[in-house]
Amino acid sequence: MPYRDLHDADQLQALLGAVIDVESDLELEPTLRRVVTAACALTGARYGALGVLDVSGKSLAQFVHVGVDDETAARIGHPPDGAGLLGLLILDPRPLRLAEIADHPDSVGFPPGHPPMHSFLGVPLRIRGEVFGNLYLTEKIGAPEFSRDDEAVVVALASAVSSAIDNARLHARLAELAVSDDRERIARDLHDTVIQRLFATGLSLQSVVSLAPDRELRARLEEAVADLDDTIRQVRTAIFALEPPPAARTGLRTRILALCAESARALGFEPAVRFSGPIDAVVGEDVAPDLLATLREALANVARHAGATSAEVEVRVDDHLHLLVADDGVGVGPGDHRGGNGLPNMATRAELLGGSFTLRARPGGGTELAWRVPLGG
Ligand SMILES: Nc1ncnc2c1ncn2[C@@H]1O[C@H](COP(=O)(O)OP(=O)(O)OP(=O)(O)O)[C@@H](O)[C@H]1O
Ligand SMILES: [Mg+2]
Repeated sequence: MPYRDLHDADQLQALLGAVIDVESDLELEPTLRRVVTAACALTGARYGALGVLDVSGKSLAQFVHVGVDDETAARIGHPPDGAGLLGLLILDPRPLRLAEIADHPDSVGFPPGHPPMHSFLGVPLRIRGEVFGNLYLTEKIGAPEFSRDDEAVVVALASAVSSAIDNARLHARLAELAVSDDRERIARDLHDTVIQRLFATGLSLQSVVSLAPDRELRARLEEAVADLDDTIRQVRTAIFALEPPPAARTGLRTRILALCAESARALGFEPAVRFSGPIDAVVGEDVAPDLLATLREALANVARHAGATSAEVEVRVDDHLHLLVADDGVGVGPGDHRGGNGLPNMATRAELLGGSFTLRARPGGGTELAWRVPLGG
């Protein structure tokens, strides 16, 4: 739809609705990209970009651009740092329309490798009066500069995308708060009250076993004590699965070892861990949390379902990051690993990173989990 047809406010509104679904768009990056693409198409701009400032307000937390190919972008290097005209849009948050960028007193020029740009249309992004980024277009195709109509369209897009970002940030914060608070509280409660009471009950039953007058009663008491022990193990597994991940400050190997050591209480033994390849050097924070969450769930499953006496964890890097978790337990049949959330979560984590996930019975007994994702994408 060319921008000329958009004078009708309803049409513009409908278009914005198609570009941004403020209520449901919680994945920001694709939304931002759609907005920039739409802004270019609607105004006939060759290039467009959108930068979102981080909380300090000094550097960009997100930067998406359209029109400059990857190779050129790589040659230019870092995204704009907010000097010059882009900085002006933040300090003096008003739409800015220019026929020649270089003529503006605030222009600082372009880095080497940057395509030539002349006409410019930039608008600030604001949430409740506060500026948090900008949306700008350059090189109007077929005209020396952007028009007033172009400006109106971009201002409308900017205000819609601002609401979308506000919404996404709010959701992310709420989800984070809810998850971390609840998980810690539940884990603490389980540990401090439930386990202690189960343990005390087990002990007192144990102490009366020898007092029981007949064999059948003794056998049943012993069974009850064994059941309680098993229940305590299960609860410990649940606590282990609930605890928040170790802080990202330490290296990944250290975090893997800590996780395995922590799992020993739930498992009843410490899993053997083997590393190969430069794990700490090549696995970034884009992948590490998924690896750790997968390992945690894998170990929780071994503790809960396998009845194993040993387990092995292997983490290996080549052009992929591989996680293997093998146990010597009861194994899995083709149909009996459905129904829970753990396995689907691992599969989704692998899929989102472009990798794969399998769980199968080992030929010699037990279960083998293989999770792998590509590195350096
Ligand atoms: N190491 C294992 N040994 C034997 N069975 C396993 C193993 N790992 C998974 N399973 C089987 O796969 C099923 C599904 O696992 P999944 O983690 O998806 O769910 P869950 O552990 O039952 O519940 P949750 O949603 O709490 O994780 C388990 O119920 C179990 O039957
Ligand atoms: Mg599970």
